[in-house]
Amino acid sequence: MTRLPSRFYQPLAIGAPAPYRELPVCLERMIHFMPPHIEKMRNKVPDLLGQVDVVLGNLEDAIPADAKEDARSGFIQMASDHEYGSTGLWTRVNALNSPWGLDDIVQIVNAVGQKLDVIMLPKVEGIWDIHYLDQLLAQLEAANGISKPILIHAILETAEGVKNVDDIASASPRMHGMSLGPADLAASRGMKTTRVGGGHPSYGVLADGTAPDDDNRAFYQQDLWHYTVARMVDACASNGIKAFYGPFGDFSDPAACEAQFRNAFLQGCLGAWSLHPSQITIAKRVFSPDVDEVKFAMRILEAMPDGTGAVMIDGKMQDDATWKQAKVIVDLAKLVAANDGELGAAYGL
Ligand code: GLV
Ligand code: MG
Repeated sequence: MTRLPSRFYQPLAIGAPAPYRELPVCLERMIHFMPPHIEKMRNKVPDLLGQVDVVLGNLEDAIPADAKEDARSGFIQMASDHEYGSTGLWTRVNALNSPWGLDDIVQIVNAVGQKLDVIMLPKVEGIWDIHYLDQLLAQLEAANGISKPILIHAILETAEGVKNVDDIASASPRMHGMSLGPADLAASRGMKTTRVGGGHPSYGVLADGTAPDDDNRAFYQQDLWHYTVARMVDACASNGIKAFYGPFGDFSDPAACEAQFRNAFLQGCLGAWSLHPSQITIAKRVFSPDVDEVKFAMRILEAMPDGTGAVMIDGKMQDDATWKQAKVIVDLAKLVAANDGELGAAYGL
């Protein structure tokens, strides 16, 4: 039930911009959430611009029902007031089944659609959600003479969404990527937790004992999100879109936040959400490749100029497949270096 490739890339409204065939290349190590109804927070946006890769005005969960309209108008205000340059400007709108979702999309795109890079859509369950927003955005882009397509980023946070994750990833050329939403997903699945992301001390594996009454058995905590992150990464990578870990709610445990972000990075994610200024630093550290890894990856690329054959480096076998892994790391390091002189110098790029 997919369109022919030639149709897939046609604009969905007369006068709307043509969809991208390749996603714009940009650094998105942290998607920084801010509540746009609070003036004090809006005033901090100019400072944020030098620090974060993406600023996101949050209109959905965590914004009280009686502040929804102020959050929407606050976002329009902050989008109009500043030039964002290479910092991404995103908003998370309310869900399509809420009383606010439609007005969020229509009013924001009408007012500041030309400046908006990405709409984050929560509670996505299937292609129908993406198709609705895709068509609506094309109409609004055409009506407002917007010249570059606004992308869609889905939150993977319902059991049905996870079931349909491959179809969601390939639903439209407007798809930018996906984030794991562990808090809503836990509720939707009936998981017995009360957390926003991270592990749970009771979810683990008990080592074998020496006797039935052995009470010295080691218990190894496991990652509750491993399965979902893996499915999300495969769905995104196989469709050329980007995967992200979402929120980590325990601001008092930066080590656990870092461990969760790093698992996501190693599994293929490009960034995570920062909900607190302390998480900006964590995300920057985790989602910028490690200096030693980059240097080793550069040695692999240098040792195999055309990417074929086999060589030994420090006793480790390298071939076409490790060359490709090295290229992923070096390409990311170049992107980081272009935005961050200090890290660029450390990489030697
Ligand atoms: C994010 O929206 C989540 O539900 O975890
Ligand atoms: Mg959620």
